[in-house]
Amino acid sequence: MIDLLYLMSSICFVLALKGLSSADSSCAGNLCGMSGMGIALLAAYLGKQTGNGHLIFWAVVVGGAVGLSIARKVSMTDLPQMIAGFHSLVGLAAVLIACTVYAAPDQFGIDASPDGGWFWRVEMGIGAAIGAITFSGSVIAFLKLQSSYKWYHVHPALNVFITVLLLCSLAGFVLLKNSYSFSLAVLTSFALGTALIMPIGGADMPVIVSLLNSCSGWAAAGIGFTLHNDLLIITGALVGASGAILSRIMCRSMNRTLGNVIFGSCHGSLQKNTDRKDQSFTHGAPEEAAFLLKNATSVIVVPGYGMATSHAQHALREMGEALKKRGISVRYAIHPVAGRMPGHMNVLLAEANVPYEDVFSLDDINREFPSCDVAYVVGANDITNPAAKKDELCAIYGMPILEVEKAKVVLFLKRSMGTGYTGVDNELFYAPNTMMLLGDARETTEAILKVL
Ligand code: TAP
Repeated sequence: MIDLLYLMSSICFVLALKGLSSADSSCAGNLCGMSGMGIALLAAYLGKQTGNGHLIFWAVVVGGAVGLSIARKVSMTDLPQMIAGFHSLVGLAAVLIACTVYAAPDQFGIDASPDGGWFWRVEMGIGAAIGAITFSGSVIAFLKLQSSYKWYHVHPALNVFITVLLLCSLAGFVLLKNSYSFSLAVLTSFALGTALIMPIGGADMPVIVSLLNSCSGWAAAGIGFTLHNDLLIITGALVGASGAILSRIMCRSMNRTLGNVIFGSCHGSLQKNTDRKDQSFTHGAPEEAAFLLKNATSVIVVPGYGMATSHAQHALREMGEALKKRGISVRYAIHPVAGRMPGHMNVLLAEANVPYEDVFSLDDINREFPSCDVAYVVGANDITNPAAKKDELCAIYGMPILEVEKAKVVLFLKRSMGTGYTGVDNELFYAPNTMMLLGDARETTEAILKVL
């Protein structure tokens, strides 16, 4: 019976991933995931090995209530830190389970006598170590995303410190024959997670959150092997593999390797800011922007983090419809790391009912900018910054960008001449074909819509 429930739950999780791979089926995918988790909890309750069923019941009620209240309150822009926070709990759970099993293996059906072998200790050690790295790393990721302080001004010697910690941790595994070495492995892993994530910042954060997601999955799978829990192994492997694939996709879209993201992160401190206070720029009004848009034949909208904070997506869709009625082609260009989480812009545009066929990824749209009349950049900055192509010292060097500078006119909607997430100056604001529309992106778009 329990095995059957585990099988059903696993199938639901696989279907959830399949459903979440496209916007059309994402609601069904979410429902599958929730059903899978419900069935898994029921299986855990029915298959309990002790008489403490009421503990499982109350853990589900209290945990569910806390999760529900956080999910209702969290804003779209705060989702990355919420995800990092939740991953930290998965890591901590893995550590606590591993410590419990290590302390009382008999209660979990493990033969701890010398005849029973040592492999279960290694499994526990790996599960606990990955869990500890995930926990401390996710806590640091949460704090970094939550605060505006630029953490990446760290001395490069930290990388040496990290390597030493890594060696200590490995030594802990090698000596994994008693509870002291087990504790050493866990403690060094906590420190390793902190030291690894601490210097990483700027454009690399999305990859790290996804990588920690992957780690939390592998930690769960590792524990699942020891507890002979098939569901934990399958679910952990699904989370681990999907997080790893997403990290790889993001690395490729930033033109970086995973090793470079983790160990080369001190490059953020090399960032160079040019003082452009005296440089002149073209400041436009909504009437002028509306004139340019009306006379265009092709417009490409480039949404960024500012679209999310100003909730400009609905006004944008209306503006797009107004332009289309005039026979103007309107397309939306999405950068893989636009906003603050994977798929951030896609979700917001879908919420505003922007047709999917008008939304294009970086690779598909970049060649269209030279033939486009107006690039309408809504609260985006880093993802359009040409410094990524030429300034080897800047924090976003190597990241592919949306080449809006190749459009005939670039309209930049933002509130000030300030920088974006990575703090790198954008020379495009001062380009002769750029018009700055300073103000809240939603208000500016609504003003343009009124004129149109
Ligand atoms: P940013 O480079 O952060 O630029 C956003 C711009 O929006 C800012 O320059 C800001 O300028 C403007 N803005 C903010 N509020 C606004 C409002 N109400 N109205 C109008 N403009 C507003 O964003 P991006 O171009 O989307 O690039 C994303 C960055 O975040 C990348 O560096 C990426 O690596 C990083 N990141 C991405 C993720 C993921 S997974 N997507 C996760 C974490 C970090 P003003 O202040 O002058 O208005």
